Amino acid sequence: MAKGGATDGYLERLRSVPLFAECDDAELRQVGTLGTEITLPAGRVLTTEGERGQEAFLLEEGQAVATRGGQEIARFGPGDFFGEMALIGDRPRSATVTTESEVLVRAFHSSEFRRMMIDVPSIALRILTTMASRLASAEDAATH
Ligand code: CMP
Repeated sequence: MAKGGATDGYLERLRSVPLFAECDDAELRQVGTLGTEITLPAGRVLTTEGERGQEAFLLEEGQAVATRGGQEIARFGPGDFFGEMALIGDRPRSATVTTESEVLVRAFHSSEFRRMMIDVPSIALRILTTMASRLASAEDAATH
Protein backbone atom coordinates (compact mmCIF):
# COMPACT_ATOMS: atom_id res chain seq x y z
CA MET A 1 0.00 0.00 0.00
CA ALA A 2 2.80 2.38 0.93
CA LYS A 3 4.49 1.63 -2.36
CA GLY A 4 1.24 2.14 -4.28
CA GLY A 5 0.64 5.40 -2.41
CA ALA A 6 4.08 6.74 -3.26
CA THR A 7 3.58 5.81 -6.91
CA ASP A 8 0.16 7.44 -6.96
CA GLY A 9 1.62 10.61 -5.43
CA TYR A 10 4.24 10.80 -8.13
CA LEU A 11 1.66 10.27 -10.87
CA GLU A 12 -0.64 12.86 -9.29
CA ARG A 13 2.20 15.41 -9.29
CA LEU A 14 2.68 14.84 -13.02
CA ARG A 15 -1.06 14.88 -13.64
CA SER A 16 -1.36 18.31 -11.99
CA VAL A 17 0.70 19.72 -14.90
CA PRO A 18 -1.89 20.96 -17.46
CA LEU A 19 0.18 19.58 -20.34
CA PHE A 20 -0.26 16.08 -18.93
CA ALA A 21 -3.85 16.48 -17.69
CA GLU A 22 -5.38 14.05 -20.18
CA CYS A 23 -2.71 11.37 -19.88
CA ASP A 24 -3.67 7.95 -18.58
CA ASP A 25 -1.48 6.27 -15.96
CA ALA A 26 0.63 4.37 -18.51
CA GLU A 27 1.32 7.58 -20.44
CA LEU A 28 2.18 9.45 -17.24
CA ARG A 29 4.64 6.73 -16.26
CA GLN A 30 6.27 7.02 -19.65
CA VAL A 31 6.42 10.83 -19.44
CA GLY A 32 8.04 10.49 -16.02
CA THR A 33 10.95 8.65 -17.63
CA LEU A 34 11.56 11.43 -20.17
CA GLY A 35 13.41 14.70 -19.61
CA THR A 36 15.89 15.82 -16.97
CA GLU A 37 14.95 17.99 -13.99
CA ILE A 38 17.36 20.87 -13.38
CA THR A 39 17.40 23.67 -10.79
CA LEU A 40 18.80 26.95 -12.12
CA PRO A 41 19.30 30.42 -10.64
CA ALA A 42 17.67 33.64 -11.89
CA GLY A 43 19.22 35.19 -14.98
CA ARG A 44 19.95 31.99 -16.91
CA VAL A 45 19.24 32.09 -20.66
CA LEU A 46 17.43 28.91 -21.72
CA THR A 47 16.76 29.79 -25.37
CA THR A 48 18.50 32.47 -27.45
CA GLU A 49 16.60 34.18 -30.27
CA GLY A 50 18.08 33.30 -33.67
CA GLU A 51 20.19 30.40 -32.41
CA ARG A 52 19.63 26.69 -32.89
CA GLY A 53 18.30 24.76 -29.93
CA GLN A 54 18.09 21.11 -28.95
CA GLU A 55 15.70 21.19 -25.98
CA ALA A 56 12.16 22.03 -24.97
CA PHE A 57 11.44 22.98 -21.36
CA LEU A 58 8.62 22.47 -18.89
CA LEU A 59 8.75 25.03 -16.08
CA GLU A 60 7.84 23.21 -12.87
CA GLU A 61 8.67 25.98 -10.37
CA GLY A 62 9.62 29.64 -10.70
CA GLN A 63 9.23 32.29 -13.37
CA ALA A 64 10.78 33.03 -16.77
CA VAL A 65 10.36 35.74 -19.39
CA ALA A 66 10.41 35.57 -23.21
CA THR A 67 11.72 38.50 -25.25
CA ARG A 68 11.97 39.12 -28.97
CA GLY A 69 14.09 41.94 -30.30
CA GLY A 70 14.57 43.01 -26.69
CA GLN A 71 10.80 43.40 -26.10
CA GLU A 72 8.95 41.23 -23.61
CA ILE A 73 6.44 38.99 -25.40
CA ALA A 74 5.43 36.49 -22.70
CA ARG A 75 5.94 35.45 -19.11
CA PHE A 76 6.00 31.84 -17.97
CA GLY A 77 5.12 30.30 -14.61
CA PRO A 78 4.69 26.80 -13.18
CA GLY A 79 3.11 24.40 -15.69
CA ASP A 80 4.12 26.42 -18.77
CA PHE A 81 6.33 24.97 -21.48
CA PHE A 82 8.51 26.67 -24.07
CA GLY A 83 11.21 25.89 -26.61
CA GLU A 84 8.87 23.70 -28.67
CA MET A 85 8.81 25.93 -31.77
CA ALA A 86 12.44 25.43 -32.81
CA LEU A 87 12.11 21.66 -32.39
CA ILE A 88 8.79 21.25 -34.22
CA GLY A 89 9.66 23.71 -36.98
CA ASP A 90 13.36 22.83 -37.22
CA ARG A 91 14.03 26.57 -37.07
CA PRO A 92 16.16 28.95 -35.02
CA ARG A 93 14.71 30.04 -31.68
CA SER A 94 11.92 32.60 -32.07
CA ALA A 95 12.64 34.32 -28.74
CA THR A 96 15.07 34.51 -25.84
CA VAL A 97 13.78 32.92 -22.64
CA THR A 98 15.51 33.92 -19.40
CA THR A 99 14.82 32.72 -15.85
CA GLU A 100 13.57 35.46 -13.53
CA SER A 101 13.82 33.52 -10.29
CA GLU A 102 15.36 30.26 -9.22
CA VAL A 103 13.54 27.67 -11.32
CA LEU A 104 12.96 23.95 -11.49
CA VAL A 105 12.70 22.96 -15.15
CA ARG A 106 12.34 19.64 -16.90
CA ALA A 107 14.44 19.76 -20.07
CA PHE A 108 13.48 17.42 -22.90
CA HIS A 109 16.15 16.74 -25.49
CA SER A 110 14.78 16.90 -29.04
CA SER A 111 14.74 13.09 -29.29
CA GLU A 112 12.73 12.81 -26.03
CA PHE A 113 10.41 15.59 -27.10
CA ARG A 114 9.78 13.81 -30.41
CA ARG A 115 9.16 10.53 -28.57
CA MET A 116 6.61 12.23 -26.30
CA MET A 117 4.79 13.88 -29.25
CA ILE A 118 4.58 10.59 -31.16
CA ASP A 119 3.65 8.36 -28.23
CA VAL A 120 1.21 10.63 -26.37
CA PRO A 121 -1.28 12.30 -28.71
CA SER A 122 -3.01 14.33 -25.95
CA ILE A 123 0.31 16.05 -25.20
CA ALA A 124 1.02 16.65 -28.89
CA LEU A 125 -2.42 18.23 -29.30
CA ARG A 126 -1.91 20.58 -26.36
CA ILE A 127 1.54 21.60 -27.55
CA LEU A 128 0.28 22.28 -31.06
CA THR A 129 -2.78 24.21 -29.82
CA THR A 130 -0.58 26.42 -27.65
CA MET A 131 1.93 26.87 -30.45
CA ALA A 132 -0.82 27.97 -32.86
CA SER A 133 -1.93 30.72 -30.46
CA ARG A 134 1.69 31.78 -29.92
CA LEU A 135 2.19 32.06 -33.69
CA ALA A 136 -1.08 34.00 -34.04
CA SER A 137 -0.06 36.45 -31.31
CA ALA A 138 3.33 36.94 -32.99
CA GLU A 139 1.54 37.65 -36.27
CA ASP A 140 -0.83 40.11 -34.56
CA ALA A 141 2.13 41.88 -32.99
CA ALA A 142 3.84 42.14 -36.38
CA THR A 143 0.79 43.50 -38.24
CA HIS A 144 -0.72 45.88 -35.65
P1 CMP B 1 11.43 28.45 -29.48
O1 CMP B 1 11.27 29.29 -30.69
O2 CMP B 1 12.03 27.12 -29.62
O3 CMP B 1 12.26 29.27 -28.37
C1 CMP B 1 11.64 30.43 -27.81
C2 CMP B 1 10.31 30.04 -27.24
O4 CMP B 1 9.51 31.11 -26.73
C3 CMP B 1 9.41 29.46 -28.34
O5 CMP B 1 9.98 28.25 -28.80
C4 CMP B 1 8.10 29.39 -27.62
O6 CMP B 1 8.08 28.31 -26.74
C5 CMP B 1 8.16 30.69 -26.81
N1 CMP B 1 7.40 31.75 -27.51
C6 CMP B 1 7.68 32.31 -28.69
N2 CMP B 1 6.74 33.23 -29.01
C7 CMP B 1 5.84 33.23 -28.01
C8 CMP B 1 4.62 33.96 -27.75
N3 CMP B 1 4.14 34.89 -28.59
N4 CMP B 1 3.95 33.67 -26.61
C9 CMP B 1 4.42 32.76 -25.74
N5 CMP B 1 5.57 32.06 -25.93
C10 CMP B 1 6.26 32.28 -27.05
